[in-house]
Amino acid sequence: MTDAMIIGGGSGMGLALARTLLAERMDVTIVGRSADRLAAAKEELAQAAQGKISTVRADIGREEDVAELFAWVERVEHVAVTAADVTGAYGRIADVATAAAEAVVDTKLLGAWLVGKHAVGRVTGSITYTSGINAYRPNGANTIVAAANGALASLAYGLAIELAPVRVNVISPGWVDTAIWDQLGMDKQAAFAELAERLPARRIGTPNDIAQAFLSVMRNGFITGTVLDVDGGHRLLT
Ligand SMILES: NC(=O)c1ccc[n+]([C@@H]2O[C@H](COP(=O)([O-])OP(=O)(O)OC[C@H]3O[C@@H](n4cnc5c(N)ncnc54)[C@H](OP(=O)(O)O)[C@@H]3O)[C@@H](O)[C@H]2O)c1
Repeated sequence: MTDAMIIGGGSGMGLALARTLLAERMDVTIVGRSADRLAAAKEELAQAAQGKISTVRADIGREEDVAELFAWVERVEHVAVTAADVTGAYGRIADVATAAAEAVVDTKLLGAWLVGKHAVGRVTGSITYTSGINAYRPNGANTIVAAANGALASLAYGLAIELAPVRVNVISPGWVDTAIWDQLGMDKQAAFAELAERLPARRIGTPNDIAQAFLSVMRNGFITGTVLDVDGGHRLLT
């Protein structure tokens, strides 16, 4: 039994959300594949936490892991999913290995579906997934990630009907400075500076910007079947 479970909570936006919920005195379980990453996150979170922090190793793309996770937790009020494996998934379609594309679909889309499947009777409040700006703004080198992100909206609409009164939503972040960028092999700071100048918000997002959006969607009992864009106005750029 835990108040909130964050699948992908060992780093980035999920870790920021864990910090936020613990400060709200909630008990939080963070989930990911790497025991080392979870242990480091737990150590950091425990220093300032008001609520209890737990960790569980699980791969969201494997049904047996997701089933065990929900059996272990028994009941949980809120689930947030920030997990994604996008290793090798950026590049022109001819250069992306099919295994890399499958990993994106397994983690972002099928994993999200598995969470919906095994949430039945266990989740009492809300499920919130994470998509991303490239669902609307593919750039010719991120097609499979964009497709999985776009499909998450339809998944959430379907589950909001099917799992009601559990609420199901999606947060769609713009560019946020997290470790996920480090594997893209680009000059991250230069790209961030260039975009920040053009964004209506005039800056890149922080993990905490996204954590605050998750918190509001979790708390607001009238939001369901919605995609909330938290992107500094990125969708409006020409
Ligand atoms: N950062 C951005 O600019 C941006 C923009 C738009 C959308 N997004 C989306 O936002 C979400 C969060 O990304 P982030 O920036 O916070 O990246 P991040 O720091 O890399 O976080 C992703 C987390 O997911 C976990 N994970 C990966 N595969 C998993 C699996 N199969 N099962 C369970 N956990 C898994 C990772 O831990 P392990 O490797 O230990 O499992 C990691 O802790 C992602 O869905 C990403 O696509 C990010």
